[in-house]
Amino acid sequence: MQRAGPQPGERVLDVGCGTGRLTHLARRRVGEAGVVYGIDASPKMIAVARAKAAQEGLAVDFRVGLIEALDFPDQSLDVVLSNVMFHHLPDDLQEQGLAEIFRVLKPGGRLLVVDLQRPMGFIGHVQMTLFAHGALINGVEALPRRMRPLGFEAIEQGRLAVGPIGYVLGRRALTAEHRS
Ligand SMILES: C[S@@+](CC[C@H](N)C(=O)[O-])C[C@H]1O[C@@H](n2cnc3c(N)ncnc32)[C@H](O)[C@@H]1O
Repeated sequence: MQRAGPQPGERVLDVGCGTGRLTHLARRRVGEAGVVYGIDASPKMIAVARAKAAQEGLAVDFRVGLIEALDFPDQSLDVVLSNVMFHHLPDDLQEQGLAEIFRVLKPGGRLLVVDLQRPMGFIGHVQMTLFAHGALINGVEALPRRMRPLGFEAIEQGRLAVGPIGYVLGRRALTAEHRS
């Protein structure tokens, strides 16, 4: 997963950034030459994220915005991050969101989604109930079949060591046109 991590000088978007914990981390990684955006549907989350960034002296462009209608130009970003937000979305918004992410990624740009994974077995269901998501049907493991038709490639997926959490990493193909 290290390979997905933002590199110095890159342009990064954290979608559903909440209070900006991951966004701030990305900001530190891209350095002075990089640019980091965080968007969230909730104005309250964005207000907190801005206040925390100001406290820490971090230059992040936080905006109220929706994953399904990204206010960024085509092919303008190197990395899109999403941490535990996709499971909040119904199927149609997941598809729209992925299409929007594909549109704004540069060719070769990466998407990293970390999110809840469909529970397996009794212990898995207990864990998911503990995470207050007992009804989760499709988790992060279902994203690759939505990503491939859009033109994402080199898709990797796996589970994190702790809890019912998984990740999916994909790259916008170098040559593919925007297909949505
Ligand atoms: C569980 S929080 C995760 C926040 C953050 N990524 C983190 O790791 O702390 C999920 C966030 O997704 C945001 N969200 C939900 N639907 C959204 C949408 N359609 N577009 C953008 N953000 C959305 C919520 O407002 C919430 O802040």
